[in-house]
Amino acid sequence: MKSSLSLLFVLLGLFCHGQNLIPRPERADKREGEFLVAKQTEIYSPAFPDLFDYLNDHIERVCGYRLAAGGHRRSIQQISIEKHEGGLSEEGYLLDISPSRITIRANDRGGAFYALQTLFQLMPVSVYRPDAAQHAETFAIPCFHIEDAPRFAYRGVMLDVSRNFSDKAAVMRYIDWIARHKLNTLHWHLTDDNGWRVEIKKYPELTSRGAWRGPGEVLPPSYGSGNERYGGFYTQDEAREIVRYAADRFITVIPEIEMPGHAMAALAAYPSLGCLGEGYEVPSVWGVKEDVFCAGNDSTFRLLEDVLTEVIDLFPSEYIHIGGDECPKVRWKACPKCQKRIRDEKLKDEFELQSYFVQRMEKFLNGKGRKIIGWDEILEGGLSKTATVMSWRGSAGGIEAAKSGNHVIMAPNTHCYLDYYPTRDLENEPRGIGGFLPIEMVYALDPHEGLNAHEREYILGVQGNLWTEFIAELDHAEYMLLPRLAAIAEVGWSYDRKDYPDFYRRMASLRKQYDINGYDYGKHMFAADSAATAPAGR
Ligand code: ACM
Ligand code: ZN
Repeated sequence: MKSSLSLLFVLLGLFCHGQNLIPRPERADKREGEFLVAKQTEIYSPAFPDLFDYLNDHIERVCGYRLAAGGHRRSIQQISIEKHEGGLSEEGYLLDISPSRITIRANDRGGAFYALQTLFQLMPVSVYRPDAAQHAETFAIPCFHIEDAPRFAYRGVMLDVSRNFSDKAAVMRYIDWIARHKLNTLHWHLTDDNGWRVEIKKYPELTSRGAWRGPGEVLPPSYGSGNERYGGFYTQDEAREIVRYAADRFITVIPEIEMPGHAMAALAAYPSLGCLGEGYEVPSVWGVKEDVFCAGNDSTFRLLEDVLTEVIDLFPSEYIHIGGDECPKVRWKACPKCQKRIRDEKLKDEFELQSYFVQRMEKFLNGKGRKIIGWDEILEGGLSKTATVMSWRGSAGGIEAAKSGNHVIMAPNTHCYLDYYPTRDLENEPRGIGGFLPIEMVYALDPHEGLNAHEREYILGVQGNLWTEFIAELDHAEYMLLPRLAAIAEVGWSYDRKDYPDFYRRMASLRKQYDINGYDYGKHMFAADSAATAPAGR
């Protein structure tokens, strides 16, 4: 009887903890016992010294005290973060929790950082209470042996700050959500028709004029800005601060400077860069605009090169996103300068002119040691071998690009557009842009769909996109992102993740952390019938 009871507890332990992590680790073995964190516990972190503070900040939030740094000692309870020489892949880690010691081993700082995220998830939920500092003198972490590494190197979220502006503090909060889910990239959509959001010293009007819209147009309140003057931008110092804040959380910030379309804010600031040369306003209403950068005008390229020169100075990312989506060709068709460019460069049509535009900017950025990412329209009219395609109009563009040997990030609107409604019951929902994207659908994304083993190597990873036409407030953004971000995270991180019911069960634990942190998140997946109605195998 006693032994079957203890077997039951072992099984319960497995059920309660072993599978409760999100994203699901490659391997997690529950072991007997627990490690007790107490005041005399030490942290030993010679290889990743800044993680000493990161871990201690967390401990302080939950217990109200900081742990001391210790030399490597077996005689004392330690949390030890060590460099692992060889054998672990990038961002991978080993996490061994025994009653006397917690040992983290990683090749790189990313792996060590993610081991800490896993450790935080294993801490009992009670320690996450805002008032926990008064209660948690000590707390127990269950013993485990975990071996883990991400499936994809690129795991991102796109944040549109043009349609509605998020200030620096809000962007930092986004970064915290991203880090908690072991995602490693913030794709920062900094420019669009409805506002230019980053200071460019050489062209001050981009922000003095291009960052502001209205007053004038009468808008429904759902557009956030109403018909008031509305806007904002990041100074270069603020952008640098955000890049640093993200880097501390192992997140790369990739800036997007949109071209040749979605350029109204820039044209309002510098009208000579458009085919008509005058009459542009920063529009309050979003959409695909016919006015785009003139591709026949050399000053367009001069300005964009100058802008990118400042941008690469702010952002150390390997990639710069240059947009490329939704560029109507009406103005180019009627513009003598654009038509002259087509003739001079012996281009076939306006699609090849777009390709000329993109490739010219790519050459410029390559010359500065950077690579480009563009939305999947950059395939139209011909693509260089070195551009990375972000597939958004479904997965087809990504599949085509991977088959032709280009790197790809999968962000198809069929699975990754987090501004779509998470439910069909719209009565009590905050505003979405339309569509229907329940978390089961997000989870069902297979970034390798339609590709053979060789072609799969071109898939860098996945990304969730948060466009903000109708998302003016941070809690609304939080609601749209969570918990669907957890599904993006698992698609990007976990190898073996066909099992939606298992994901659903593990979400119960992450959900408690959302609750205790006061996060505003969609509850639809937890409705009684949601798992039951999830299509089998999703
Ligand atoms: C996009 O959603 N227009 C990339
Ligand atoms: Zn033109």
